[in-house]
Amino acid sequence: MHRQQKSQIFSHPEFEKPLPPFPDINSSWNQDCSSSFNCQRAWVEIKLNNLIHNVKAIKALLSPQTAFMAVVKADAYGHGAKVIAHTVLEHGADWLAVATVTEGIELRQSGISSPILLLGAISSSEEVNKIAEWQLEPTIGDRSQAVAISEVLSELKTTLPVHLKIDTGMSRLGTPWQQGLEFVNFVTQLPYLQVASIYSHLATADDLDQITMLEQQQRFNSCITQLKNQQITLPCLHLANSAATIINKSAHYDLVRVGLALYGLYPAEHLKSSIDLKPVLEVKARITQIKTLPAGTGVSYGHQYVSDRPITIAVVSIGYADGVVRNLSNKLQVIVQGRLVKQIGAITMDQLMIDVSELDDLQAGEIVTLIGQDGKQSISADDWATTLGTISWEILCGFKHRLPRVMK
Ligand SMILES: Cc1ncc(COP(=O)(O)O)c(C=O)c1O
Repeated sequence: MHRQQKSQIFSHPEFEKPLPPFPDINSSWNQDCSSSFNCQRAWVEIKLNNLIHNVKAIKALLSPQTAFMAVVKADAYGHGAKVIAHTVLEHGADWLAVATVTEGIELRQSGISSPILLLGAISSSEEVNKIAEWQLEPTIGDRSQAVAISEVLSELKTTLPVHLKIDTGMSRLGTPWQQGLEFVNFVTQLPYLQVASIYSHLATADDLDQITMLEQQQRFNSCITQLKNQQITLPCLHLANSAATIINKSAHYDLVRVGLALYGLYPAEHLKSSIDLKPVLEVKARITQIKTLPAGTGVSYGHQYVSDRPITIAVVSIGYADGVVRNLSNKLQVIVQGRLVKQIGAITMDQLMIDVSELDDLQAGEIVTLIGQDGKQSISADDWATTLGTISWEILCGFKHRLPRVMK
């Protein structure tokens, strides 16, 4: 079942760029800007060594029979899907998963030949045509989707591997588990569809309390038992996301679908003792101007911050249009010269201000770390998520394409 075709690693343009030197510079004005990212205003750094470390750490949790599907949807959670996909396939992932047909085609166009599962639903015959053309593998959530896909494939006279989704409690895509047996039987009899896997998705695997996860697992198991009782040959079975992969070996089945953990973040605090993960993404920007302001001066739109003493501020060339969420205004900390400093005033579309009164010898062109490590200090996507009352998945996906992805 587990097709392990090798990707054509390192054969696409992303890998042909030289690694950018990131000198400790004082001013971008003196830099040679002819190549790489020396003079970028802001960028995302991708630490491929950390990605490879995470792949190995996750693989170490799996039995040799369990396949590893790397979830690289949403541009690999904001990290850049092509480079991430090639790297994880080279280091032990067997499958890729994306959400949309376009995401799948982009990976194929970059030379990837491993199987690619589409996690989202298919909504038009045009998409089925593209899926067949690019050899992607769709998820089917109910009978009507199965019939629609089968009809298009009959016209094309092409058989496709398809993946049947059972809803065991996520209440999203999929046929309710009580009708799982009938659903599988129905699809199996349709022409041009070859059932490659049956799967479900967990809603609460990152909860400390495992009761709901185990209930979903029981429902999944009861479907499987019914299929076995009918002497139906079982295809590949899968259930686990990152959290279940880390915490619940019995949920591994034939394959695990891992997203967040690949990128070095923990789905929940209590999972930290079970695996050593290293964050892959860092976000950096440059200081463009430094100035002193007298006491009583308002900073940025709406003057949400007014200095209560004379302060030195630095303007940093990154803003909410890059993914630095405006609701972080006056709550964000950044790292400059290895020291934590406060962001002040409203974050604007392309720029934000920081209070650098405590720093000496700071000059325009110096690098500010918004997410990542500098010296002894570090700031994570989890820190942002806690401040904003959201999850790290959303923070990672929020870094926009205006920020170049730089491999380190
Ligand atoms: C169906 C499915 N499987 C697996 C994953 C990966 O989840 P995680 O990032 O928690 O590992 C996702 C992510 O949303 C998903 O939608």
